[in-house]
Amino acid sequence: MTTSQHMPAVFLDRDGTLIEDRGQLRSPSEVVFYPDTIPALRRLGERFRLFIVTHQPGIATGLASADEVARVNAHVVAELNRAGIAIAAVYCCPHRREDNCDCIKPRPFFLNQAARAYSVTLPRSFVVGDHPHDVALAEQVGATGIYVLTGHGARHRATLPPGRTVLPGIREAVEWILACDDLRRREAAAPETLARAAALLRAGGIVAFPTETVYGLGAAVFDERAVARVFEAKQRPRFDPLIAHIGDMDALPLLTPAVPAIARALMERFWPGPLTLILPKTAQVPDLVTAGLPTVAIRMPRHPLALALIARAGTPIAAPSANPFGYTSPTTAAHVRAQLADRVDLILDGGPCAVGVESTILDLTAPDGPALLRPGGVTREELASVIGPLPERPAGHGPPGVVAAPGMLPRHYAPRVPLRLLEPDEPCPTPPPGRVGLLTLQPPSDAGRFAGVECLSRDGDLREAAANLFGALRRLDEQPLDLILARRVPASGLGIAINDRLTRAAAAETEP
Ligand code: TXA
Ligand code: MG
Repeated sequence: MTTSQHMPAVFLDRDGTLIEDRGQLRSPSEVVFYPDTIPALRRLGERFRLFIVTHQPGIATGLASADEVARVNAHVVAELNRAGIAIAAVYCCPHRREDNCDCIKPRPFFLNQAARAYSVTLPRSFVVGDHPHDVALAEQVGATGIYVLTGHGARHRATLPPGRTVLPGIREAVEWILACDDLRRREAAAPETLARAAALLRAGGIVAFPTETVYGLGAAVFDERAVARVFEAKQRPRFDPLIAHIGDMDALPLLTPAVPAIARALMERFWPGPLTLILPKTAQVPDLVTAGLPTVAIRMPRHPLALALIARAGTPIAAPSANPFGYTSPTTAAHVRAQLADRVDLILDGGPCAVGVESTILDLTAPDGPALLRPGGVTREELASVIGPLPERPAGHGPPGVVAAPGMLPRHYAPRVPLRLLEPDEPCPTPPPGRVGLLTLQPPSDAGRFAGVECLSRDGDLREAAANLFGALRRLDEQPLDLILARRVPASGLGIAINDRLTRAAAAETEP
């Protein structure tokens, strides 16, 4: 760590945030890290000083001795150290709530101690935890609280005051914190960029902005002329409706008159995040946005810059992905610049998109129950955990159980170089004559036979693969190739969305 002076910090709750909450732990052997904890904290530790702040009332009630708890904490720190992650200090409150001590969350005792002992800048710091007290703790010192849905997160969610940042787990919390830090640095380097973007949107401009899935090209949703400019810039057919992006729940009534209980449950679990819900539209949503449909697509993106832009603009933002129609979606600001720079008023840079494939689209207006229109960043399994299994429907184009959304053309997300699909376990054919590129999940043994090879994830991690997909397709497409061979990935989790995009990229140009 280079600058020890006035570094911001992240204060991490232990149980239910970094490790599984399995009741009172008395021995290191009972510690189970969440699989995301170590990779996430590695990235975080490069920019923030890390602390653990934990409440262990079992010491006061006799469920564990102070020594036992200290050994468990030491083990957690040692395991993180082994992975190259430094924990500056572990702060542990051993008291019961009725003891009325100074150090129990949400009292800021430990945070103030850290500020003094380690020169931590509290207003630029974060607290992450699975209890409303963790968020309240942040607010005591002007830091930012992040509530995670692991551990007790789902159980206590109802007691969390509205308007707080709620994220699925430590991985997304770290992505969020790093994006907030990027945003702060960018605003320091180029002050007022965000304000200018918001002013442009209010004045009928079109602005490209990052979301956690892909970059969007936005216009104020109720400004029909601005929305028309989005269609023009993308050369997008008018029959393909746009998604309305909102920043808080108060915006919902502007867009939809009716939010059924099932929609509420899905929003609570997946917003902000890569889930788009189709609901009935209000009269004021322009027909241009919905392509004349009586329904509107709504989502709350999980990127601090997107949410800040919507808040500053004071309007929901209608936005398709920021690419020419039918071409690969952009996952960096440079992708947008390469293809649309001269057609948009401003491009906001928020770094590479963490999810990398577009949102999942779920229609809640279909007469026979929720219908999955597009597989995306929220998996079928995750949806099922809230609303039960989705019925398999007769397949049109795309994977089984996915019905075509208006505008979901079979050829989409397509590079210029022709693309042919390989099955996950199909042996690689001898490359046909000409220059052939290979897109594959893990490194192949015969890479030398190809003019270009792109691997989506060395460890075969499908979330990493999704984040790399469109960038890898673009890099291949920029080379003088005659053909891209793309190997489908295992069809589970995000693999379904990856395969869907590959299938569309491969669809012959002659298909309707
Ligand atoms: O992740 C995403 O969803 C990205 C980011 C920018 O938010 N946006 C995105 O937008 O992928 P776009 O325009 O590329 O895809 C939106 C799709 C449309 O093509 C259409 O299939 C579907 O959403 N859609 C929009 N409104 C709909 C409606 N009322 N009924 C059914 N499908 C709708
Ligand atoms: Mg906890």
